[in-house]
Amino acid sequence: MLALDKEHFQGRKMLTLDKEHFQGRDFLSLSDYSQDEIKYMLQVASQLKTQQKAGIPHPLLQGKSLGMIFTKSSTRTRVSFEVGMYQLGGQGLFLSGRDIQLGRGETIADTARVLSRMLDGIMIRTFSHQEVQALAEYATIPVINGLTDLLHPTQVLADLLTIQEHVGRLAGLKLVYIGDGNNMAHSLMFGGAKMGLHVVIASPAGYKPNPEIVAMAQADAKANGGFVEVVTDPLAAAKGADVLYTDVWASMGQEDEAEIRKRAFAGYQINREMLQVAASRAIVMHCLPAHRGEEISEEVLEGEQSVVFEEAENRLHAQKAIMALVM
Ligand code: CP
Ligand code: NVA
Repeated sequence: MLALDKEHFQGRKMLTLDKEHFQGRDFLSLSDYSQDEIKYMLQVASQLKTQQKAGIPHPLLQGKSLGMIFTKSSTRTRVSFEVGMYQLGGQGLFLSGRDIQLGRGETIADTARVLSRMLDGIMIRTFSHQEVQALAEYATIPVINGLTDLLHPTQVLADLLTIQEHVGRLAGLKLVYIGDGNNMAHSLMFGGAKMGLHVVIASPAGYKPNPEIVAMAQADAKANGGFVEVVTDPLAAAKGADVLYTDVWASMGQEDEAEIRKRAFAGYQINREMLQVAASRAIVMHCLPAHRGEEISEEVLEGEQSVVFEEAENRLHAQKAIMALVM
């Protein structure tokens, strides 16, 4: 049921998706989806990308609306969801956390039930993952996690698409993440484990990923042919990497810790020296925004092995697949 039927799409102006399997589901974590489901989402994302580039309309969400709640800043997530809805024939509605009543104390439960009466889906970017889970519990429409302090799953779906496009496969690749054991590290472990990658997280003491997430990802990796490990030495970790990945040392909400973190993460930079020990055709990834000279050197970010801007573009295509399937 999950295999994409090529004949079904070929020569057609519009995609018709086998939605039954996905419709109504939340997208809070990649750990909630099976390897086959993620594969299918990536196939749909690829199809939508091809159609978009060819100028073929694909109004799969005509007449539908997505509410987009943001209590944190965003460039890529906001633009890709809003434009993605437009390209799918629907509408994205930006709801700043400061302006809606949620910011003045209206409960998550009430917000979820009210929005469910008017919208077809909710995307939320906020601090607490529990709040997003509560929103999903009370909403009767799909809720998509656009980043919490714990996870950033839509980014990683786009990252998997990018890796697949550049390397041609996912299973068996070594992906090394250098830096903070944060939301990106967590979602990369979940997504990588599910797709059979060897994921290495190299973080300094005190900034390791959440052990519960590590244990869950390791169990997923075992069941799906992947391998997940957490280490301390970044240069040793980078040896033979097919994908080198990093993210900011201080995430949104950690601005006050920026100086302490700069000291703690010294040496955890993707630079020429690190790239030299990776596989010769390794690709360099970063979810962006980047802090040049901190977690990544300017020359590597701008170098020919960097795929960061294609990665950013793929947010659009990957999220269109999620929305087209669940909404
Ligand atoms: N990578 C990412 O989520 O970027 P934004 O914070 O700009 O949305
Ligand atoms: N870890 C970063 C990711 C930004 C896309 C943050 O949460 O700020």
